[in-house]
Amino acid sequence: MSIQEEKIKELVERREAAKLGGGAKRIEAQHSKSKLTARERLAKLLDEDSFEEFDMFVQHRCTNFGLEKTHFDGDGVVTGQGTIDGRLVFVFAQDFTVNGGSLSKTMSEKICKVMDTAVKVGAPVIGLNDSGGARIQEGIDALAGYGDIFERNILASGVVPQISLIMGPCAGGAVYSPALTDFTVMVKDTSYMFLTGPAVVKSVTGETVTQEELGGAGVHSSKSGVSHFAADSEDDAIAKVRQLLSFLPQNNMETSPALPTSDPVGRTDDFLNEVVPDNPNKSYDIYGVIRSIVDDGNFFEVHKEFAKNIIVGFAHMDGRSVGIVANQPAVLAGVLDINASRKGARFVRFCDAFNIPLLTLVDVPGFLCGTQQEYGAIITNGAKLLYAYGEATVPKVTVTLRKSYGGAHIVMSCKQLRGDINYAWPSAEIAVMGAKGAVGVLKDVTEEEYNELFCNPYQAAQKGYIEDVIEPRNTRFRVIRAFQVLEGKRQDIPAKKHDNMPL
Ligand code: HXC
Repeated sequence: MSIQEEKIKELVERREAAKLGGGAKRIEAQHSKSKLTARERLAKLLDEDSFEEFDMFVQHRCTNFGLEKTHFDGDGVVTGQGTIDGRLVFVFAQDFTVNGGSLSKTMSEKICKVMDTAVKVGAPVIGLNDSGGARIQEGIDALAGYGDIFERNILASGVVPQISLIMGPCAGGAVYSPALTDFTVMVKDTSYMFLTGPAVVKSVTGETVTQEELGGAGVHSSKSGVSHFAADSEDDAIAKVRQLLSFLPQNNMETSPALPTSDPVGRTDDFLNEVVPDNPNKSYDIYGVIRSIVDDGNFFEVHKEFAKNIIVGFAHMDGRSVGIVANQPAVLAGVLDINASRKGARFVRFCDAFNIPLLTLVDVPGFLCGTQQEYGAIITNGAKLLYAYGEATVPKVTVTLRKSYGGAHIVMSCKQLRGDINYAWPSAEIAVMGAKGAVGVLKDVTEEEYNELFCNPYQAAQKGYIEDVIEPRNTRFRVIRAFQVLEGKRQDIPAKKHDNMPL
């Protein structure tokens, strides 16, 4: 064997050793918990043979508590680049088989390197989290590593899409990196996120709670809203991320890729002419409306289990990616409360940051009232949604299906918030409040009189607050044409250091 051949053999052997992470026994332990290893996950996430690894031979530099005696190439995180559906992405995957995936200073340097490169070239970053948190032996160095990552999350926000997959523990301050990213996907039963675990909770507050009850996928996707998606398995989580990316651009300077469709632009649907019940107090399911008007009935929902009175998600219309926000009359009559406002605002801001046009479907009776909402700052939280719509400069098309009352009318992308094209169905009721409330205040007005004046879209149409009253069956066609017209839209906001939205 020549010297060169020997050197190449050494490289191959070193690579193979590095690929084993913490070793066969720990890989087995990982598998026994229904969890894949970092490399197995990346192989499923990325297009076949597209992964190129960075920093495979990096080792930690810690000399505390005997840590200098054990080194693993790669130091507990696999980083690099690859493609998803042929589009470049940057990835990091924590490897629980090495020191429980705990974060060292060198691990953070590897993660920061992929994030910096992603921002430099303008491609999404996907982080696969499975970690025991700060590497305890490293002390302040590990904390500094987290700080470095958080700062990059912040600087990359609104520049490239950032997606977090939680595939094991994510505890302590470590949760703040996913919280700073655009979307978080948790795997049911095998992942959890919390600031302090059940043992500490018990000692501080006396509360007895399981890991799952405190920070499992179910809790964070339905109660707190920390997680945007709860996946049934790791495979499902990975599939969700791949699908999500198909709606997103690579960065804030680009638009999302078009997806060819055979669904005709001019397809009408008679179902829409009948979906709104004659009785204004009866509900209907807005999902049917959404599926009817988007390409091939495909709607990719975000935050499905959280604040179900508002629905947000992505779809294609004539092949173009669109962000949809819709009140859901079938849940709490579609009222806006604190969580619905937060959910809507975050989605609207994401779409605006990444050039994704917004379609808003309105059927909203108002804001939820009462002490619980007021003490929880419905004023500030409702203002988030108002603010998000008002600052958004992407094309905004709004269709009012039925109720659009009071403050909620303004918030839901009305004309005065620089709504571009606002349509209403003949069933629309655009008014300060519903008839019952109004006649309670205006004693000499009857419900009939009030209904006649306001329970229709024509007051708003006469004043130019909506562009047109459209026949429901034509909604798909009218919305697509509106977006086509708005494709070249340019709109500015006044120069400022940054805004001060009501957080
Ligand atoms: C160093 C760690 C570690 C850590 C786990 N390991 N967490 N090493 N620092 N933070 C090591 C274990 O010692 C063990 O090594 C191996 O990883 C696997 O861990 P196990 O405990 O055997 O695994 P498991 O039973 O599955 O339990 C997983 C776990 C537990 C629940 C995550 O390891 C755990 O509670 N770890 C500590 C969690 C924690 O409190 N982290 C600090 C959070 S505070 P050996 O060699 O023995 O097999 C924080 C601050 C961030 O992160 C601040 C940011 C601003």
